[in-house]
Amino acid sequence: MKKILVLGATSTVAVKVMELFSLEETHLFLMGRSKERLENIGKHLKCSPTWHKESILDYQVVENVLIFEKHHDFIHEVIKKMGGLDLVFVAYGHLGEQKNSEKSGSEFLKEIQVNFLSIASYLHTVANYFESQKNGQICVITSVAGDRARKSNYTYGVAKGALSLYLQGLRNRLFTSNVSVTDIKLGFVDTPMTEKLTQRLLMASPKYAAMKIVSAISQKKEIAYVPFYWRYIMLVIKGIPERIFKKLNM
Ligand SMILES: NC(=O)c1ccc[n+]([C@@H]2O[C@H](COP(=O)([O-])OP(=O)(O)OC[C@H]3O[C@@H](n4cnc5c(N)ncnc54)[C@H](OP(=O)(O)O)[C@@H]3O)[C@@H](O)[C@H]2O)c1
Repeated sequence: MKKILVLGATSTVAVKVMELFSLEETHLFLMGRSKERLENIGKHLKCSPTWHKESILDYQVVENVLIFEKHHDFIHEVIKKMGGLDLVFVAYGHLGEQKNSEKSGSEFLKEIQVNFLSIASYLHTVANYFESQKNGQICVITSVAGDRARKSNYTYGVAKGALSLYLQGLRNRLFTSNVSVTDIKLGFVDTPMTEKLTQRLLMASPKYAAMKIVSAISQKKEIAYVPFYWRYIMLVIKGIPERIFKKLNM
């Protein structure tokens, strides 16, 4: 039975991913900030036609992912409860108002800490465990926003870009230990995170995104742009010379 820990299990995309994970006999361990939401998602998964009858579901509430000193023990408690760990899927993230993070230093730091440091801190313990086991899979949702920083959301973009670089380092380190590291560079997906966006062009559905994410995990891909066309859009955006890019209103 595959043992999977989902950090940020209340994410809309994560729920769709878990529906696909549970097609096979799976031990799912859900982590999120709200007991009520985790319980509802647990009920939803167990009632879903995709739920394999032998699958197991556990959850634990972590109200604040910024209490870094608890991360090591949390990961080891999960490993103990499940009797091992095969895959960690990280879905949580926060898209704050860019202007707030410019006005307030603490907002800026919180955005970087939630979207980058807290995830790197959890994965620090996970990586050491997988390295010692000589087996494991890590999959993290980052963002195309991390490919080039722009004025309308560079705080979020910087955190996601740093996370992608961290994953690159882990991938290189853990390759010889049979541990795969998959970076999902997500484009626009129709979830509560994007509900304020007036621009709906290129908006993918959570179900489509989940299918592509699960496929990338099963193929042990290094980096997957989801949907795929973001690879080409970002190639163009990354190719714009900085002297021109700095004048653009993006
Ligand atoms: N939707 C997009 O267009 C898009 C594009 C690129 C990347 N992404 C990334 O995709 C991932 C999944 O997001 P989604 O689209 O599924 O959005 P979502 O449904 O709004 O889910 C966001 C998730 O992040 C958690 N979260 C938010 N702030 C948090 C905090 N301060 N501490 C801990 N957890 C926090 C939420 O937990 P609660 O339920 O407790 O609020 C929820 O589990 C995120 O990493 C996001 O950055 C999304």
